[in-house]
Amino acid sequence: MYVCVCNAVTDRQIRKAINEGASSLRDLKRELGVATCCGKCAATACRILDEHQPRYSLEPDFQPA
Ligand code: FES
Repeated sequence: MYVCVCNAVTDRQIRKAINEGASSLRDLKRELGVATCCGKCAATACRILDEHQPRYSLEPDFQPA
């Protein structure tokens, strides 16, 4: 589906960019042009970024203070 209509950028292109190292809206702007015109796609692009953030797990020997 198109996320950024202004620049014809799809969610697949965004996911591919994330898988190749993009980690912020700034990266997506630079690499794909997302959110560089009207900006209406920024929230959706950020949601896709959030979905791909690595989940932090506790170290096996982690002891809370
Ligand atoms: S929809 Fe992405 S800049 Fe307009």
